[in-house]
Amino acid sequence: MSAGILGMGKFIPERVVTNTDLEKVMDTSDEWIRTRTGIEERRIANDETDTSDMAFAAAEQAIKNAGLTASDIDLILVATVTPDHPFPSVACMLQDRLGARRIPAMDISAACSGFIYGMVTAKQFIDNDTFHHVLVVGVEKLSKITNWDDRGTAVLFGDAAAAAVLGNVSEGHGILSFELGADGSGGSYLYQDGKYIKMNGREVFKFAVRQMGESAVHVVEKAGLKKEDIDYLIPHQANIRIMEASRERLEIPEEKMIKTIQKYGNTSASSIPLALVDAVEEGKVKDGDVLVMVGFGGGLTWGALTLKWGK
Ligand code: ACO
Repeated sequence: MSAGILGMGKFIPERVVTNTDLEKVMDTSDEWIRTRTGIEERRIANDETDTSDMAFAAAEQAIKNAGLTASDIDLILVATVTPDHPFPSVACMLQDRLGARRIPAMDISAACSGFIYGMVTAKQFIDNDTFHHVLVVGVEKLSKITNWDDRGTAVLFGDAAAAAVLGNVSEGHGILSFELGADGSGGSYLYQDGKYIKMNGREVFKFAVRQMGESAVHVVEKAGLKKEDIDYLIPHQANIRIMEASRERLEIPEEKMIKTIQKYGNTSASSIPLALVDAVEEGKVKDGDVLVMVGFGGGLTWGALTLKWGK
């Protein structure tokens, strides 16, 4: 047995904000945003919807799709940098909303790498038989920490949630290899300064291109796989040029990279699981497919894993 995904869910806010909408409120252009980032539109949650509300919607769906109920969950991990409050954690709020048992619940702060950190943490508890079912949520309401007067960051982000229930799957399926890392010396390249996100885009770009490529190659090697074995690459959806660089490093064709950045922008911790849920719903990802997920984010942090889809 090994740890894999039993079911997934997502929540996408209804409100679509296009690049053309942004042209009206800041000095930017659809052309600049498309060519520099690959983003065409993003979703922005309304004032009544906070991070925990989005997490709850995605989590409920994931538990149902796993064929379980909230009482089956043994641990809740929520990856987010935009919690409703510094404390209580979104994970504790979620435990209450779901009506789960008095199980442990905590948030993970690893920015856009958070979901991979969560998956790997869940795997440890499942592998050593401590817990059977772990709920991992990636959720962000980045719009509440976006400075709409800073065109260098405001055009990049979107709000969303995606969740997965992890548990034992049959031999050969599930997480095959992983890598996690951090370099705190790069913390000043991407951080929250009081209320808002601050970013040195060029430095983050350079780091991301190097690290995403390296980590993706490492996890493929660790799993004893070859590039021909990879069915889909699911990179963190931050910038199409960064995503393309990791694809080229893995030497896999364009159609094997899952791409949702055009419709959601960068949704930080929810970006990788959201791309995965969409790919599963569209019928792209099938039983037995080998997936490579790789992300990077503020911290600086990074994480990657390979997973054989199916139970
Ligand atoms: N619209 C129009 N022009 C803009 C905009 C905008 N929205 N933003 C910046 N510009 C201008 C700049 O002012 C600059 O003008 P200048 O040459 O007259 O000074 C010009 O465009 C080029 O700016 P650069 O910053 O050099 O543009 P670059 O090609 O580096 O792209 C970007 C910027 C898209 C931010 C890129 O650096 C990037 O993607 N970096 C990585 C960002 C990222 O992945 N962040 C992850 C965050 S994840 C998390 O943890 C929340």
